[in-house]
Amino acid sequence: MFRQSIILATFATGLFGMAGPALSADAAACKGIFDGTCSACHEMADWQGKNTAELTAMIHDIVAGKTKHKKALKLSDTEIADVAAFITSGK
Ligand code: HEC
Repeated sequence: MFRQSIILATFATGLFGMAGPALSADAAACKGIFDGTCSACHEMADWQGKNTAELTAMIHDIVAGKTKHKKALKLSDTEIADVAAFITSGK
């Protein structure tokens, strides 16, 4: 089940990736990243008012080591886009 949703998410991301960044992420599939990696220290409300592009850039800087962050994050570009979309979706 979990494996299936990864494959689905990868497929959907690839498909929507061609349509443009706004559609590049599948918010439902990224809940796992947030719940598993971020929710120990963060609430979705931490980034209220930020849009997906801003949050993507912030997380990018953390992963790249440009922004100091309590926990080193290791996320692919796709995962960054996914988790940013999930958080800013407000769900
Ligand atoms: C071990 C705790 C911890 C975990 C886990 C964690 N963070 Fe953070 N994060 C922090 C703290 C502490 C701050 C600083 C909060 C502040 O004072 O603004 C922060 C700040 C941030 C910021 C703001 C950076 C800036 O430019 O100001 C972003 C974006 C962020 N975290 C994203 C994430 C994401 C995405 C995840 C999961 C993939 C995550 N964090 C997991 C503790 C954590």
